[in-house]
Amino acid sequence: MGVKTAVVTGGGSGIGQAIAQRLTAEGYNVATLDRTPSEEKNAYTVDVTSREQIDTVLGAIREDLGPITILVNSAGIVGNARFVDIDFDAWQKVIDVNLHGTYHCIQAVLPDMLKAKWGRIVNISSSSAHAGQPYMAHYVAAKSAINGLTKSLALELGQVGITVNAVPPGFVDTPLLRRDEELNRLGGTIEDHILRTPVRRVGKPEDIAAACAFLISDDASYITGQILGVNGGRNT
Ligand SMILES: NC(=O)c1ccc[n+]([C@@H]2O[C@H](COP(=O)([O-])OP(=O)(O)OC[C@H]3O[C@@H](n4cnc5c(N)ncnc54)[C@H](O)[C@@H]3O)[C@@H](O)[C@H]2O)c1
Repeated sequence: MGVKTAVVTGGGSGIGQAIAQRLTAEGYNVATLDRTPSEEKNAYTVDVTSREQIDTVLGAIREDLGPITILVNSAGIVGNARFVDIDFDAWQKVIDVNLHGTYHCIQAVLPDMLKAKWGRIVNISSSSAHAGQPYMAHYVAAKSAINGLTKSLALELGQVGITVNAVPPGFVDTPLLRRDEELNRLGGTIEDHILRTPVRRVGKPEDIAAACAFLISDDASYITGQILGVNGGRNT
């Protein structure tokens, strides 16, 4: 097989952007899907909750870059509210982007991987799924479901050459984290949190990108169904 093609959702910002840059640097063909339009090369504007948009754009990517055998699902939104105040619309929106977006993208790229008898899927979940997080019940429910989806698909797809793993980030310095700090949603500043983090620093998007690059590499062909926490030791 020639140069492999990777699709990274949420590739317009933060963690997804760092993953796209890292995979590009490693020589893969990389396309990003994001709801925010971008002038970057191979950046496609897509809402991952729309299967129609996904299918259309993946068709264009296949024409331009060939079959897609690597998928990283990083598109996500957070929610922050007391559980009693989460109405069904808000609940559904968070589940829709994080969980259903992941479902749609995996199902839409899978035929390429099955045909190639090789594939790598990495789902970006969240360290909040480890022990729960107050005021984020919908988000934590969605991210926990992504971890479960990851394990189930690993069992189903291992025999056809496809590995499926999850990387739950913890406390990574991205626009999402900065927004949460500004809105006082972190229970302290980023500096306060650094003092509570064993490695005494905030995570960088590149830390998550490095874990993804490893899980995609041939060195990781015996690793599937794993939830690889990248969180500076905050969750052990
Ligand atoms: N930053 C952290 O500390 C942290 C911690 C745990 C989990 N995460 C997860 O990591 C992933 C990336 O987060 P980030 O911190 O880089 O956030 P970010 O907000 O910087 O990036 C998220 C990207 O997803 C895109 N997106 C959102 N909804 C979309 C949709 N419907 N369709 C297509 N694109 C959409 C946004 O436009 C944005 O570019 C998310 O899934 C998030 O839940 C982040």
